Amino acid sequence: MNSYIRTLPYLLLFLFSINLISAQTYAKNGMVVSSNMESSKVGRAILQKGGNAIDAAVATAFSLAVTLPSAGNIGGGGFIVYMDSKGKATTIDFREKAPLAATNDMYLDKEGELIKGINHNTVKAIGVPGTVAGLYLAHRKYGKLPWKDLVQPAIDQATNGFTFNWSLFKAAEYFTKEGNDNRFMDNYFRNENGTVLQPTENWKQPQLANTLSIIREKGKDGFYKGEVAKKIVQWMKENEGIITKKDLKKYEAIERKPMEGSYKGYKIYSMPPPSSGGVALIEMMNLMEQADFKEIEFNSTAYVHLLTEAMRRTFADRAEHLGDPDFNLDMPLEKLISKEFAKQRFNGIDMTKASVSDSTKFGQLYDGESTTHLSVLDKHGNAVSLTYTLEYSYGSKMGSEELGFIFNNEMGDFNPQAGITKSNGQIGTAPNLVAPEKRMLSSMTPTIVAKNDKPYLVIGSPGGRTIINTVFQTVFNVLEYNMPVNKAIEALKIHHQWLPDVIRYEKHLLSPDTKKALENMGHTLEPRENLGALMGITWDDEKKVMTGASDSSRPDGGAAGY
Ligand code: DON
Repeated sequence: MNSYIRTLPYLLLFLFSINLISAQTYAKNGMVVSSNMESSKVGRAILQKGGNAIDAAVATAFSLAVTLPSAGNIGGGGFIVYMDSKGKATTIDFREKAPLAATNDMYLDKEGELIKGINHNTVKAIGVPGTVAGLYLAHRKYGKLPWKDLVQPAIDQATNGFTFNWSLFKAAEYFTKEGNDNRFMDNYFRNENGTVLQPTENWKQPQLANTLSIIREKGKDGFYKGEVAKKIVQWMKENEGIITKKDLKKYEAIERKPMEGSYKGYKIYSMPPPSSGGVALIEMMNLMEQADFKEIEFNSTAYVHLLTEAMRRTFADRAEHLGDPDFNLDMPLEKLISKEFAKQRFNGIDMTKASVSDSTKFGQLYDGESTTHLSVLDKHGNAVSLTYTLEYSYGSKMGSEELGFIFNNEMGDFNPQAGITKSNGQIGTAPNLVAPEKRMLSSMTPTIVAKNDKPYLVIGSPGGRTIINTVFQTVFNVLEYNMPVNKAIEALKIHHQWLPDVIRYEKHLLSPDTKKALENMGHTLEPRENLGALMGITWDDEKKVMTGASDSSRPDGGAAGY
């Protein structure tokens, strides 16, 4: 017994380290799951006040702009997939746009070579933000409570402060260490006395509170016109940025028809272009439908091989065909998501050896660490799946001190150099080249799966190009293996994106034998600490119970239900 007690802490530590512990939360009336529990609670309070899923999602998103500034934002953009209780689905596209002054050679030197880092790490990486317009449009069309009530909780959190957590502290340590010359980020995490905030301290953000108050009063115009817009433009002028008053004034969020697919009787609704997420997810689910998973065991060599080959092909199609639909009127979307196409693709897979990704063709780079997803289900059965981002963690790491928020660096998602596709993953295809007012291609995959025309699974994740694959595997785990949502989220994830031709895998979750067998088939493997940070909800229509789970890779995240 004594030795049991002695080993218990080590066992728990081990289980935590391999990401196997993730609680599920059950609720009858409403559920919000996000990467910050304080923000999930904001969303839950809105549901309890009589708000619907859209209201709760809007309030949670504004709150995450305060509690999770690495990814939660008003200076970035994203997507919403919404399904009402009758099974009608729609989407809101609030992706950032290239400014009017952008050109397709803006990241090249005189010789036509890409200037390293310019499209990600400079002021030219900032796209016209879409978040406030997107949340406003979602609320205007589908919300119920007054707009002011949805912005107010975030203002309260920014004004009164909230507990500075460990993840924020790690960022504060990084940005304030000697040699870091980013003045804006250095000042960002300091308290009123100018000292760097410590874990458990109360963090107030008065400038952000003020900006949010203007948005509360004026709605969308509070960001894109007037005082805030003026300060954004002034900051751009002072810092050689190219976003103008006209860019802000012209920005509109767009309602678009979802990408719709199916898997063994379930319906799948996800984001259409300018995200590649929906097309890619449905293409891979169709490929899976061709296989017999009674013969292929979960986590086995055949399983990892088949998923890899599906990912390889899908990412090649993504790179070849996808971009902003308003600039690419002839994308073969229906073909890519058809069952017929999946059949052809499936027949081309050799189950005994790896295919080769041709470096003269297609693929994409692996992204950094930050974007965030939230899922909501309300008591009427309306569901919201929302993913939004600044692109990198803390985006461009630039912003106006007066306004208190960070600008995205989303322009890095465009193909930077026409015609140049490299085996390291740089893509040069036409559909996603930079053009004025174009939206850059995304991988965000907010998704809702319906069973009998009612929301059944609400899911999404951050993780750059890995998003498509981690959402795909989580959806697949629930639909094919009937896994409870927390197990589906924590189970092994792999990632292959055509180029570079490598399988990334969560290192504690693949056995040595399987790795060896895959290498013998011609695959190259690369371990990763973690893939994805999935936030999901399932609905049991028989028991009338919601189950929520947040990925253990985001320790501050959580499911708030009632
Ligand atoms: O839109 C996209 O696909 C990327 N900008 C998302 C970036 C991301 O997820 C970063 N990581 N966690």
